[in-house]
Amino acid sequence: MNRAYWEDLADTYDEQIFSVLRRDREGRLKRLIQDHADGSKIAADLGCGPGQITPLLATHFGRVHACDLSEGLLEHARAGCAGFRNVAFHRVDLSAGTRSPFPPADFVMCVNVIITSDLARRERLWERVTRLVAPGGTLVLVLPSHEAALYTNFRRLDWHLRAGLEAKDAIHHSLDRQGSVSELEQGVRGIEGVRTKHYLREEIIVQLQDRGLRANEISQLPYDWDIEFPNPPDWMGAPYPWNWLVVARRER
Ligand SMILES: C[S@@+](CC[C@H](N)C(=O)[O-])C[C@H]1O[C@@H](n2cnc3c(N)ncnc32)[C@H](O)[C@@H]1O
Repeated sequence: MNRAYWEDLADTYDEQIFSVLRRDREGRLKRLIQDHADGSKIAADLGCGPGQITPLLATHFGRVHACDLSEGLLEHARAGCAGFRNVAFHRVDLSAGTRSPFPPADFVMCVNVIITSDLARRERLWERVTRLVAPGGTLVLVLPSHEAALYTNFRRLDWHLRAGLEAKDAIHHSLDRQGSVSELEQGVRGIEGVRTKHYLREEIIVQLQDRGLRANEISQLPYDWDIEFPNPPDWMGAPYPWNWLVVARRER
């Protein structure tokens, strides 16, 4: 998941990457932005991609800094914000260097960005992202859940058993056999073949507290089953698969 990977995706992003904002079953992300809205404050959209969330921030905050690794994705984001005069776009690699082209913000969104399988790069992302939260500011993260991935494995296995497979065959057809044991132990699992970091709830708490932020909320952001299975059966309902939705605060 380096720059080339994201640049290559720029023109087909919508077909390949699911939109957290659109798939958020309960509209929680939108509500969170509305609840923190303040025309005198600065927001940031870190790893904004094609800018699906950026216009919402621009509507509710005085100024918005949106940044991404990919120039191609930033072009789409700029086009989507053409009607707003309060958004500045920056091409930044948040996993490299230390200087940011914009100051820490009061309300920082970082949705499914700290997901690279590369541990060193991921640690640098945690460092840069958290440093961009101003004292007293709020950080909203969306992150893949390791627990949800294991739970999805169970639902797939259970589905095979209901369909009449023997236990051994159900296991054979259900489990993620891509990647090494070491990767799986670290929560690095395939999402459509791309090795992606998944987090335990407690892991997120530690990453934040090590960097001076307190997690006020870590809750499930549920999606429909079709994000996991192309044609989920009608009987497959709640509990749904989820990403972690994290709301953290940097003390003054
Ligand atoms: C899954 S997309 C999410 C986009 C957007 N946050 C959303 O939810 O619609 C991840 C985004 O993070 C960006 N990204 C990944 N690594 C990055 C880095 N090191 N610095 C800046 N952006 C990065 C990618 O270019 C991509 O646009």
